[in-house]
Amino acid sequence: MNENDKVPYVVSSKSYTAVAINCASKAGEWIKSRLGTVERLSTKVSAQDIVTEVDKGAEQMIRKLILTHFPDHAILGEEGVEPGAEAAARALQAAQDEEYLWIIDPIDGTTNYVHGFPFYSVSIALAHRGQVIVGVIYDPSRDELFVAEKGKGAYVHGSPMHVSGEEQLSDSLFASGFPLDAAVNLPQNMAELQMLLPKVRNIRAGGSAALHLAYVATGRLSGYWERGLSAWDAAAGALLVQESGGRVSDTEGRPYDLAVRNIAATNGLIHQGLLDTLKEASDSAR
Ligand code: IPD
Ligand code: CA
Ligand code: CA
Repeated sequence: MNENDKVPYVVSSKSYTAVAINCASKAGEWIKSRLGTVERLSTKVSAQDIVTEVDKGAEQMIRKLILTHFPDHAILGEEGVEPGAEAAARALQAAQDEEYLWIIDPIDGTTNYVHGFPFYSVSIALAHRGQVIVGVIYDPSRDELFVAEKGKGAYVHGSPMHVSGEEQLSDSLFASGFPLDAAVNLPQNMAELQMLLPKVRNIRAGGSAALHLAYVATGRLSGYWERGLSAWDAAAGALLVQESGGRVSDTEGRPYDLAVRNIAATNGLIHQGLLDTLKEASDSAR
């Protein structure tokens, strides 16, 4: 046996971003090709929390590709974790000190995917010792690829992205999402909508946290907030927003990190206005 036969074959390219782009676009094309063919729809923690064989297949595809390039890297993928917020937090805690950790949401927006509503995405982030250094989000419906590298900016199909310039809430378009553990978050969600809606231009709820963040990064949305997200929903998108000149924090203003579940992301200019309004809403809901 040749000495080289004992060493696993490792593709020599060290371009993390290129691998993330390749994984997201390959998985995205496959997901799109399976649109309308879902055979196994199962529920997770609630009837609203659904998963399909396409979510699982896409995650497998991405895992295999990443490990082909980087066999010693760790992977945190939604479909590899037990359902529910606590399991997600535990899985992140166990993995976040890894030197290199890939964080994958194979389909962000599964509900949309199942209904044929064309607003879903593949989200892939790479964290180095807990700091996100690469974020890639691919929207197969519009063939849009959003890419960010820490300290190097953010791009959509090669063109630099910048957040929007609204300075007032009244000129701002927001998005939000409605978390699955409705029993815990529903009253707070309703109070927030009621408090923010009269102050802003309007609020959308598109159904893909990752794409909402990408849209804040490209300036199509002025801001976005949502409670109860997991690391795979937000890691790539948070870097996109930061690298496009925006601000990401938790809903009380603490800086974003992978463990943050209640996210606020804006163009920066209206961030405090959003946080103040969310605080007014929680005070009024008490
Ligand atoms: C969901 C989507 C949705 C958001 C939920 C997420 P999934 O992710 O991002 O927009 O409101 O909080 O769980 O389950 O489709 O990957
Ligand atoms: Ca998700
Ligand atoms: Ca998902």
